[in-house]
Amino acid sequence: MAGGSKISFIPGPVNPSPEVMRALSEPMPYHRGEEFSRMYGEIMEGMRPLFGAMGDVVIISGSSTAGLEAVLSGFVRSRRVAAIVDGKFGERLAEISSIYAREVRRVSSAWGETPAQEELESSLDDSEVLVVVHNETSTGIEHDMDLIADLASDRGVDLLVDVVSSIGCIDVRGERWDAVALAGGVQKCIGAPPGLAPVMVREWEGYDGATYYLDLARYRDSARGDLKQTPFTPALPLFAALRTAIREIHAEGLEARFARHRRVAQFLREGLEDLGVELFARPGELGRLSDTVTSFRVPDAEAVRKELARRGILVAGGQGPLRGRILRAATMANTTEEEVEILLSSLREILSRITSGVPS
Ligand SMILES: Cc1ncc(COP(=O)(O)O)c(C=O)c1O
Repeated sequence: MAGGSKISFIPGPVNPSPEVMRALSEPMPYHRGEEFSRMYGEIMEGMRPLFGAMGDVVIISGSSTAGLEAVLSGFVRSRRVAAIVDGKFGERLAEISSIYAREVRRVSSAWGETPAQEELESSLDDSEVLVVVHNETSTGIEHDMDLIADLASDRGVDLLVDVVSSIGCIDVRGERWDAVALAGGVQKCIGAPPGLAPVMVREWEGYDGATYYLDLARYRDSARGDLKQTPFTPALPLFAALRTAIREIHAEGLEARFARHRRVAQFLREGLEDLGVELFARPGELGRLSDTVTSFRVPDAEAVRKELARRGILVAGGQGPLRGRILRAATMANTTEEEVEILLSSLREILSRITSGVPS
């Protein structure tokens, strides 16, 4: 367990490894000098396989939403957008899009389910851009991006993908999906501290930047020169930490890392089912259960969450309409099966006290 005595299953920020935390205190390089240029170059190279594509990578200093707004403000302006909305982060993509787009059609379902494929298809027939969250953190559903991408590309619809809670743990396949742009996060599956937004743009045609700080073309032009730079002062310690986190990912190997996340998530799901705990998410044809976030129902969810926290085990509650109704346990970046066992055995005790009416 890295980063303190608590065991965290919070879906980000995760506890970075000690090496990543140490990188935060490295001496500050000059951000217009060669040392930073080398660091940024290594980060861009290291990020490409995580995005599963060879496009332009840029890193914005800001939380993941900065990257999402950079992508949406640049690619949906005055266009007709379809947005898959089956959780909080799909809703957020629709909200941001509605600031810039001509029209936003929400292709929605109850949170914890996925919209019908037919409904998506008919919305795509009338849209120019599709925005979708790869891994919906609020419900624990990974969308079937191969299928969704094919439906979009059959209709010539541009695809923009939020990969904030998948990149680094689940296979992101930017090339295969023929995505125009993807925006990720560093504080979840990459295992770095929060505050940087990695973005990949594969196809610049149609880009029409609508903001100043979040104009991706400025980031691209600064990053493409011999001296790789960002247009504005970068959050330097976070870049150093991100470089270390990316080195750790490649030292493990991407395939091994994806397999480890499948295994740990499966271990958690089976353990919950053994306890008689009901999984919350019921993905339909457009999704599957996520390997980074597992949502489940327990009686008196908020009391269970607090009791786990009292024992030093942090899980997240539900968001928006799911507040108080579910718990969410993330298995991201560094979570081990031993930590999952500790969560399960504490849950077993807490739930048996609740069902037998014994106060904890
Ligand atoms: C799928 C997804 N998109 C976007 C965000 C927003 O990220 P941030 O808070 O870093 O801006 C999150 C954060 O949990 C997320 O899980």
